[in-house]
Amino acid sequence: MNNILVTGGLGFIGSHTVVELHNVGFNVIIVDDLSNSRIEVLDNITQITGKKPDFHQLDLKNKSDVKKLFETTKIDGIIHFAAFKAVGESVEKPLDYYENNISSLVYILQEIRDRNIDNFIFSSSCTVYGQADELPITEKAPIKVAESPYGNTKQIGEEIIRESCAAYNFNAIALRYFNPIGAHESIKIGELPLGVPQNLIPFVTQTAVGIRKELSIFGDDYPTEDGTAIRDYIHVVDLAKAHIAALKRLLNKKNKTNFEFFNVGTGKGSSVLDVVKSFEKVSSKKLNYKIVGRRNGDITAAYADTTLAKKELNWQSEKTLDDALESAWKWQQNQS
Ligand code: UD1
Repeated sequence: MNNILVTGGLGFIGSHTVVELHNVGFNVIIVDDLSNSRIEVLDNITQITGKKPDFHQLDLKNKSDVKKLFETTKIDGIIHFAAFKAVGESVEKPLDYYENNISSLVYILQEIRDRNIDNFIFSSSCTVYGQADELPITEKAPIKVAESPYGNTKQIGEEIIRESCAAYNFNAIALRYFNPIGAHESIKIGELPLGVPQNLIPFVTQTAVGIRKELSIFGDDYPTEDGTAIRDYIHVVDLAKAHIAALKRLLNKKNKTNFEFFNVGTGKGSSVLDVVKSFEKVSSKKLNYKIVGRRNGDITAAYADTTLAKKELNWQSEKTLDDALESAWKWQQNQS
């Protein structure tokens, strides 16, 4: 049985991926520093799958701790989620973002190099494309100058991996996520934003339960059908399953080059108002919202061309926007 190290395994996407790894029979070792996650998630994963992952509370910026972990654990593959991810915060604290997101990656790759470990999967983001010139966005779209230090850590991260794969001859896949939303059907794991949510869906669900007064929609003067910005919202369980597909591709040596990258989205663009409408339908609630000015750094539209992921990973999303919002709503209602 393969042992898979999942860094950031108690976070939003990490925890859903651990559940899917268990579901298909992998052994999981989670590393998380609990800086943006809660220890209860470990029990919740165990309740869902009946299997307790091995857990290490560890800061991946601490090189000697990383070394010790690899010395004492047999690892057949790595899914690296652990990273800071708040765009606005990254503009205020760029050095914290570079230190955290880049040094942890480098330390893990050094262990891969030194111990001949293979099969590395990296959490990347559609943010690397910026406002793409053509929609839907294919993997051939050029990488644009990053809009934020956060986005830059994803671009630099991909470059570091590409160069390391070439130099040290191991295999890696970067998954470029579009907008992950929703929660596991058990409602035992989901998104746990700290403080005021910056992302749309947690803000919507918190508004609906009365934690927030109203949703501000950032701009209705975009060149889109209803004037609001368009994104590709993907159910987090579908996204988690994409990691299984990518991992199996590497373990079965089906990859075509030693560094590959794939878009992970649904292929469908939805506007902010589409999200509001869908949410109102699945929750049977009227959402308080107002239109305000555009948010700095936001792009008009991004949605994935999913052809390559379908063909090479044999993966595609299964759940709809309604499904995802319904699960996010159930999750929100279940929070105390
Ligand atoms: C954001 C990040 C992106 C990151 C992703 C992670 C920015 C500019 N981009 O993507 O780099 O990878 O989160 O999940 O922050 N919106 C509102 N009102 C709100 C919140 C959002 O109208 O209160 C709108 C936004 O303008 C956008 C859409 O909802 O059009 C989605 O926003 P969000 O969930 O923050 O995701 P992104 O901005 O696409």
